[in-house]
Amino acid sequence: MDKLCCVTAIYPGSFDPLTNGHVSIVRRGLKLFQTVVVAVARDSGKTPLFTLDERVAMIREVFKGEPRVQVDSFTGLLVDYVARRGAGAVLRGMRAVSDFEYEFQLALMNRRLHRDIETVFLMTDYKWMYISSSIIKEAARHGGNIQGLIPNALVPEVYKKFAELERQRQENPGPP
Ligand code: COA
Repeated sequence: MDKLCCVTAIYPGSFDPLTNGHVSIVRRGLKLFQTVVVAVARDSGKTPLFTLDERVAMIREVFKGEPRVQVDSFTGLLVDYVARRGAGAVLRGMRAVSDFEYEFQLALMNRRLHRDIETVFLMTDYKWMYISSSIIKEAARHGGNIQGLIPNALVPEVYKKFAELERQRQENPGPP
């Protein structure tokens, strides 16, 4: 048998921002892997609210007491990053059937690009089935209560970011 490959798993995403659903996947991933690297993607195809550095700093703050969690960012192909880090697995959370098709596509493409890297899926805890970073941002943007959906330390950061954007909008209203 080949030697076991999966001491380290890479948990990639845009994490804009990190939610309690993501935290739950990381914590459960630690039951399977020695180290989980939360890898923030620069190229996720989305326009983020927080800069890459802000997202990395926020995630580091959340996991600062957990030496088995590392936080990093990457550009380019996920599989190249996974190989560079010497990790054998990609960790992904699956929330609902709606995630399945995209995850299936992503996992198969990644496998085609790099045959030795496996994708491991964890079902998201039912408490976090309905949340996404976008829906949380949407609620916060309109002043809704997002307490309990993202780590407590990040809640003020989200409101602060929207207040900052609103201030910028008022200072530079743009064309009517
Ligand atoms: N709990 C709560 N929300 C969750 C969740 C969970 N367990 N898991 C995922 N989500 C949410 C995320 O917050 C995100 O919400 P959003 O769409 O509102 O931002 C949504 O589900 C999708 O997340 P995810 O599937 O992780 O996608 P992503 O856009 O965050 O990340 C990458 C996708 C970065 C993994 C992928 O684009 C990538 O690998 N990019 C690099 C280039 C590459 O190699 N591409 C693939 C081969 S071509």
